[in-house]
Amino acid sequence: MSAAAIEPVAPRDIERVAAIHEACFDDAWSGDMIRRVLGTAGAFGLVARAGADLSVVAFALARIAVDECELLSLGVAPGRRRQGIGAALLDAAMERAAILRVRHFFLEVGEFNAPARRLYESRGLKVVGRRAGYYAIEGGAAMDALTMRCESDFLAAGIAPDGRQGTCERRAMSSRS
Ligand SMILES: CC(C)(COP(=O)(O)OP(=O)(O)OC[C@H]1O[C@@H](n2cnc3c(N)ncnc32)[C@H](O)[C@@H]1OP(=O)(O)O)[C@@H](O)C(=O)NCCC(=O)NCCS
Repeated sequence: MSAAAIEPVAPRDIERVAAIHEACFDDAWSGDMIRRVLGTAGAFGLVARAGADLSVVAFALARIAVDECELLSLGVAPGRRRQGIGAALLDAAMERAAILRVRHFFLEVGEFNAPARRLYESRGLKVVGRRAGYYAIEGGAAMDALTMRCESDFLAAGIAPDGRQGTCERRAMSSRS
């Protein structure tokens, strides 16, 4: 059993988040881009810390607008995958959205990104649309994105009727090894 602590992103984490983003995606976001994203209304970021030095090993960036939350980006450092950390971050982001009474949670995912699609499906997100050529990929090509979405019943997974945090919060604080 390994533990990953999920916390709000701090200014000192941004360059590390950018490095993980670059390791995860062809169109890397710089630290400045991530700061700009986090500066927009309703945006929030979470990081997962692991290891003896509690270094940042993964991140989630999301934005809430009115009653919707969009997961903007989620990435786990390559050497830290398949340890439950991506799921813990997703749970924590959904839980935060639930606490803020968000009704819809959605995201875009590359159509051939099987690991991410399986992760999202495991949390109740369903494919509801397609965006042609949404992602730029190396070599100038493009890949379609699928829009995945779930409605307010995702609240039930993490939040008790009186607003107490439930199982998702516990999952967010520990991960499998
Ligand atoms: C997608 C990603 C975030 C998953 O993070 P992770 O920490 O490795 O995922 P977890 O260990 O929490 O896995 C949770 C579930 O996701 C699915 N999953 C994750 N990786 C998988 C893989 N390589 N193959 C198949 N299913 C996978 C499984 O259902 C898994 O549950 P299980 O372990 O009980 O089978 C990670 O692979 C990543 O950072 N990829 C590159 C960036 C990316 O694609 N981000 C998403 C953009 S939309």
